[in-house]
Amino acid sequence: MSAAPMTKPGRVIAIASGKGGVGKTWLAITLAQALAQAGRRVVLMDADLGLANVDVQLGLKAGMDLGSVVAGAPPEQAAIPLPAGFHLLPGRSGTGALAGLSGAALEAATSLPRRLAAGWQEVVVDIGAGVEAPQRRLAAQADLLLVVATEEPTSLTDAYAVLKLHAQDAPRAEARLVVNLAAGAASGQATHATLDAAARRFLGRAVPLAGVIRRDAKVPDAIRHQTPLLTRHPGSAAAKDVAALARGLG
Ligand SMILES: Nc1ncnc2c1ncn2[C@@H]1O[C@H](COP(=O)(O)OP(=O)(O)OP(=O)(O)O)[C@@H](O)[C@H]1O
Ligand SMILES: [Mg+2]
Repeated sequence: MSAAPMTKPGRVIAIASGKGGVGKTWLAITLAQALAQAGRRVVLMDADLGLANVDVQLGLKAGMDLGSVVAGAPPEQAAIPLPAGFHLLPGRSGTGALAGLSGAALEAATSLPRRLAAGWQEVVVDIGAGVEAPQRRLAAQADLLLVVATEEPTSLTDAYAVLKLHAQDAPRAEARLVVNLAAGAASGQATHATLDAAARRFLGRAVPLAGVIRRDAKVPDAIRHQTPLLTRHPGSAAAKDVAALARGLG
């Protein structure tokens, strides 16, 4: 299925974190599937230019990828339709080949989400960890930035740093917090309240809560089997939490 032309551009939802390993890639895949199950036409872009691995979590062997598009291939041809109901534009798995992009190539890679929004209703972008120029550019052009943090203080501090830079780079764009790997709904909400208070006080802007996702052993199980969580464990706690998060995005 190729993307039909649309009159109204789609929404770009970028998923970021300061600290690595907080569940961005897993959330990007699961959110893409939840939005697809809600009837939206979705493309997931693996924009972790250093260590792309969406294809690994999904057990795919990519043909074309982000590098092909940067080199001139049309994104509609490079994006792979998946049984999970959405398209994937893979990065370059494990090669780190896109980490050193600069100039026009970097511009092409980081402006790709907006191009994809011409053909899909929802563009979910997995931004790699960190706050370097590529991550900042990708975050700044999103309609909605989801910043993922865990309940650990280090993760929260790094999420705050991402939010601070985003407030500078895109003062009018919206950012919300996702608390992942939470012990429970209440503790996740308390984590959000801490960060929101700091953002209100020092950045002059609130950071709404997009959702709390519980720590769930079904998540690593699904990743080990290279199968999306909503396919393998649709009734699991984390699956329900992501579905609720997706509904909250409107
Ligand atoms: N809600 C959850 N419950 C249990 N385990 C989880 C949950 N979310 C993520 N994980 C685990 O965390 C690990 C890291 O997830 P993932 O690779 O998506 O993180 P990441 O933020 O994309 O990492 P990186 O910064 O390296 O790109 C995974 O192996 C997964 O099993
Ligand atoms: Mg990742």
